[in-house]
Amino acid sequence: MRTQIGIVGAGPAGLLLSHLLHLQGIESVIIEARSRKYIEERIRAGVLEQGTVDMLVESGVGERLKREGLVHHGIELRFNRRGHRINMYELTGGKAITIYAQHEVVKDLVSARLAAGGQIVFEAGDVSVHGFDSSTPAIRFQSGGKTQELACDFIAGCDGFHGVCRPSIPVGVLTEFDRTYPFAWLGVLAQVPPSSNELVYSYHERGFALLSMRTPEIGRLYIQVGPDEDIHNWPDDKIWRELQARLAAEGDWKLTEGPILQKGITPMRSFVVEPMQFGKLYLAGDAAHIVPATGAKGLNLAAADVRILSQAFAEFYSSGKTQLLDQYSQTCLRRVWKAQRFSWWMTSMLHRFDTDSPFDQRRQVAELDYLAGSRAAMTSLAENYVGLPWD
Ligand code: FAD
Ligand code: DHB
Repeated sequence: MRTQIGIVGAGPAGLLLSHLLHLQGIESVIIEARSRKYIEERIRAGVLEQGTVDMLVESGVGERLKREGLVHHGIELRFNRRGHRINMYELTGGKAITIYAQHEVVKDLVSARLAAGGQIVFEAGDVSVHGFDSSTPAIRFQSGGKTQELACDFIAGCDGFHGVCRPSIPVGVLTEFDRTYPFAWLGVLAQVPPSSNELVYSYHERGFALLSMRTPEIGRLYIQVGPDEDIHNWPDDKIWRELQARLAAEGDWKLTEGPILQKGITPMRSFVVEPMQFGKLYLAGDAAHIVPATGAKGLNLAAADVRILSQAFAEFYSSGKTQLLDQYSQTCLRRVWKAQRFSWWMTSMLHRFDTDSPFDQRRQVAELDYLAGSRAAMTSLAENYVGLPWD
């Protein structure tokens, strides 16, 4: 097998990269460890920045997103049992976020790639990457009971945080920047119309809670829990009790409960490798960086990386120039670090830390209070939340 770009991983990064390359007339093959069904049902992120939505629509995969996505102009910050709306639309000159589940983006991209004759190898075993420091890069894997090799000009490592590409880079090349947080998120999908039209981020003395949604009929809710919490210790009624306590508000607002369809625990961490490239291996998305979920940036950063990478490959194949490829890591990292800063800030402001002193708690509330009353502070949150400009 031979192609121009060998892509490891059919998450949002790998699929969108393959799609954008196809639009530029560049061939790629995706090698994915899991089945199509698995990746199309994996519940993850749900908030798309304005720029991510525009990119999906402009590249021709936004039909269902435009029809089914929920466009939100604001979010609510809740503390001391009171809500404060941040009108992002007004503060950013007309930008919004769209609620559309990550696995729906994955479904749309898989079907667009397959309809255009794109090749995705699902359920590939023992995937490994070779020769990326030479002129003959290759991806080796097991498929249909045989060992196969995909020869390519470049390899795109889009295989997420636990993938094989990043660890295949020789020791000493990459510098890792890491922060773990003393908590995780317990997330549920519930068969109940969301109790608010917009997302509610709630700071509470029992810990953070978030009310989100997937559709007008399906709610998505999260609570801060301990970092090593076992999901089996969280029966549904306990989850609802905790959500009721942490989202409680003055007045007649009420959190409506419903059957929990799915639940899981996501660790919170910040992680970046520099550079995001070695030889002919380019890392994109979670393979290169992880953000704590509070800022809803993970999926959007993955999309931003592959936008830059597809432009760099397009320049190379049309002119032979490597300027954009050479700058790939540096270009991406500027955005990555701004998203890291924002995600760390949102996380620090809204969660309870074990080490919090009464001073820290007063300071957190003062920060939220300042934010709720200052147009300047709200504008800063809004412009980061809807997504910073590309350049
Ligand atoms: P991934 O989506 O991880 O895709 C990588 C792909 O590579 C996967 O399909 C995987 O199966 C495949 N793969 C892995 N190893 C190999 C291998 N050896 N060979 C071949 N293929 C391989 N972000 C938010 O903004 N909000 C959220 O609420 C949120 N929730 C999350 C919940 C969970 C449980 C996780 C793990 C992440 C969550 N994120 C969230 C982050 C967001 O989902 C990611 O940032 C996003 O998926 C990144 O896309 P990606 O394509 O880079 O990586
Ligand atoms: C969702 C996830 C987030 O991390 C976030 O900040 C907002 C919403 C969600 O899954 O809907």
